[in-house]
Amino acid sequence: MNNQISNSTSNQNGWGPNLWPPFTQIASSPPPQRVIKGSGAMLYLENCDPLIDAISSWWVTLHGHSHPYIGNAISQQAKDLEQVIFADFVHPQAEKLANRLSDLTGLQRLFFSDNGSTAVEVALKIACQFWHNQGKPRNQIIAFNGAYHGDTFGAMALGERNLFSKPFENMLFPVKRIPWPSTWWGDENFEDHEQIALNELEIALGTPTAALVLEPLVQGAGGMAMVRPAFLKQIESLVRQSETLLIADEVLTGFGRCGSLFAFEQADIKPDLISLSKGLTGGFLPLGVTMSSEEIYQAFVGENPELTLWHGHSFTANPLGCAAANASLDLLTESPDSYLNFESRHLKHLKELSENPKIKKVRLKGTIAAFEVNGSEESGYLNPSGKIIKEVAKSHGVFLRPLGQVIYLMPPLCITESELKKCYSAIHLGLEKL
Ligand SMILES: Cc1ncc(COP(=O)(O)O)c(C=O)c1O
Repeated sequence: MNNQISNSTSNQNGWGPNLWPPFTQIASSPPPQRVIKGSGAMLYLENCDPLIDAISSWWVTLHGHSHPYIGNAISQQAKDLEQVIFADFVHPQAEKLANRLSDLTGLQRLFFSDNGSTAVEVALKIACQFWHNQGKPRNQIIAFNGAYHGDTFGAMALGERNLFSKPFENMLFPVKRIPWPSTWWGDENFEDHEQIALNELEIALGTPTAALVLEPLVQGAGGMAMVRPAFLKQIESLVRQSETLLIADEVLTGFGRCGSLFAFEQADIKPDLISLSKGLTGGFLPLGVTMSSEEIYQAFVGENPELTLWHGHSFTANPLGCAAANASLDLLTESPDSYLNFESRHLKHLKELSENPKIKKVRLKGTIAAFEVNGSEESGYLNPSGKIIKEVAKSHGVFLRPLGQVIYLMPPLCITESELKKCYSAIHLGLEKL
């Protein structure tokens, strides 16, 4: 009986009897649409008009869907070597990727995992074990209000406690939390907010701290909440004074998303550990990496087995993922203008949009443009205004996925001028419906 009920509920809502989708309440969500092809910024649907993927399919699609250069690199690699155990063996694509990312991040060591959450988990475990290996264990971790670092338990503990983490609250380790002084166009109080955060951080760092973790420049799932590079610089200086490790979660912000190859570059800071995923493979395949300084790595080297980082995944350094990542880096290196100049492409549209009296807190960083809907009585993920705008935009050929009252665009780098214009027109139309 129960089976029948659940089958009919899931069928009614279009997911069929076997699928269980992420981040979706089946009972109240519209049915999914079947995608049969992706090309550039476009998604082609079965029996429906195509849609512009204005959020890069959960922020992963960097150069566009089915980019032939990356597709060919994966296909070629599949003919040579599809997978090999990455203990006892190494392979050329992994070596090449490690060399390149070491050069680009300034951190010598690369540890592979499978996705953004695991790239953060690994950074956290490395940071904690770094202190443990030296016989100076430190237990405190510092993170920010509004943070999101993934859905595995460690990453979830780092993130803000919210609707997503509620059922597990008692099982999450404590984290010292600091305000995130997000800012926007016309914000006059940013300095006060930054100072409050820095004061709180200074007090928190009075307790020996293993690591501070942050999303440099933009908190993504927390609502595209942007801080000034200068704030990150001040954080770094406090963190250095207490010899705390600095972890940059660049899972979202990396690979040009913020207008530089990595967001930390704009703040002129040097993290000890960097987590990367999403755009790493151009959005083609799941892969995560954690970059670490040589100094940290050396704390794990020695005859004593207890010094070892006893962590790994079956698909560590999957050759197909590494080939995709190397191909994506080729594209980024060949045309840096695609991300360096993206902000100016948003600017003219966003300026016009910012005059709409229905919106507030307009902000822009690289490829990410965001604002909030005015007068939203309930803020947060469940705010209904985003849903309305999403539906209207979809009926005009644009796929958005607002975060509650926060509406944002984060298109693939390849989006054309006319497609980008269409995204903004769709938002204007959505706002008219509110
Ligand atoms: C900053 C950040 N860290 C970590 C994650 C988790 O990545 P994944 O979904 O690949 O596990 C995300 C996902 O959105 C993210 O935005």
